[in-house]
Amino acid sequence: MTATWTLDTQVFKDNIQHVTHGQPVMAVVKNNAYHYGLDFAVEAFLSAGIDTFSTTVLHEAIRVLELAPRSTVFLMNPSMEFDVLKEHNIHMTLPSLDFYLAHQEELAGMKVHLEFENLLHRSGFRTFDEMKEVIRLNTALPEGKQMKITGIWTHFGYADEFDVPDYDAEKLAWLTGLEEMLEDYQFDFVHAQNSASFVRDGHFHQHTHARLGIILYGSRPYSSLDESVTTQALTVSAHVIQIRELKAGESAGYSFAYTADHDVKIAVIDMGYGDGILRTRSQHDCLINGRRFPIRALMMSHLFVEVDDSVKQGDTVILYSNDIRIDEHTFKGVGANSEQLSALNHHSLKKEII
Ligand SMILES: Cc1ncc(COP(=O)(O)O)c(C=O)c1O
Repeated sequence: MTATWTLDTQVFKDNIQHVTHGQPVMAVVKNNAYHYGLDFAVEAFLSAGIDTFSTTVLHEAIRVLELAPRSTVFLMNPSMEFDVLKEHNIHMTLPSLDFYLAHQEELAGMKVHLEFENLLHRSGFRTFDEMKEVIRLNTALPEGKQMKITGIWTHFGYADEFDVPDYDAEKLAWLTGLEEMLEDYQFDFVHAQNSASFVRDGHFHQHTHARLGIILYGSRPYSSLDESVTTQALTVSAHVIQIRELKAGESAGYSFAYTADHDVKIAVIDMGYGDGILRTRSQHDCLINGRRFPIRALMMSHLFVEVDDSVKQGDTVILYSNDIRIDEHTFKGVGANSEQLSALNHHSLKKEII
């Protein structure tokens, strides 16, 4: 009996088709493909017809190209390893006028996408006029010293928010500026939409790709969406290793972790925070034999779950599956979808890809 991380390949692949509706997608594979595994995810996306990827770190960009040599890979964070970027033909963000001025020479021959800062204020040009200035400076250089401006992009910071007007504001700023840019310039890649924006608004006109992450990985970006919008292919499960009985007033676990207020049966489960189960997650239920039972305490390698007579030693205990989803717990305040996924410990959980 071992706590297990199980990924259903067919469910994952079917979901990609279901989510994208045939629209052109740049798959975000950062942080080891949201911890689903870069190699697994790239293969699945390729088989679903996606051949454009983005990540934040150079070694992942290179790995994607090893797996998919004919694909386009876009690096969303700037890197100063210009020779490596050129050698691998990686497209990179151009994050500011200052970056351009500081690295004009090294950028010669590089493929870059101009980034608009917008309301996220994480990276990017503050104005479209600054982008035009860079295009002007670049065009004034002899051809061999020019960079290749192949794309333009932004990232929305508020597409998952409905109670504030900020998504509308950032969308308007981007679409207005883009329209103006497209009057004078052409780009091979125009991309802005994350999962929330794509589901809310459909594929934007004049954009070559939607840049999707979490919805491809089976979690909803916001709570008012129906679960059917995306399917979770991941199951995280463990087992009941013992059943213990506690009398009212007795405590179990370190330092009175759980004190029974009535006579109870406690199932001891072989999974804990050492396997990446967040403390906030342990304030909610797990699934045993199709029914939900409350978790009462979390230790490094164990959980206590309050159960009834129907639960037996050896039963399977599910912490996450399509019936008790990551996104359900996101909306209960456990942590972001990607936070719960990233926490799972691939070194202690048994990994099964079926
Ligand atoms: C720049 C950028 N683009 C796209 C995405 C994908 O967002 P989502 O997972 O919400 O689809 C992310 C994720 O954080 C991102 O940082």
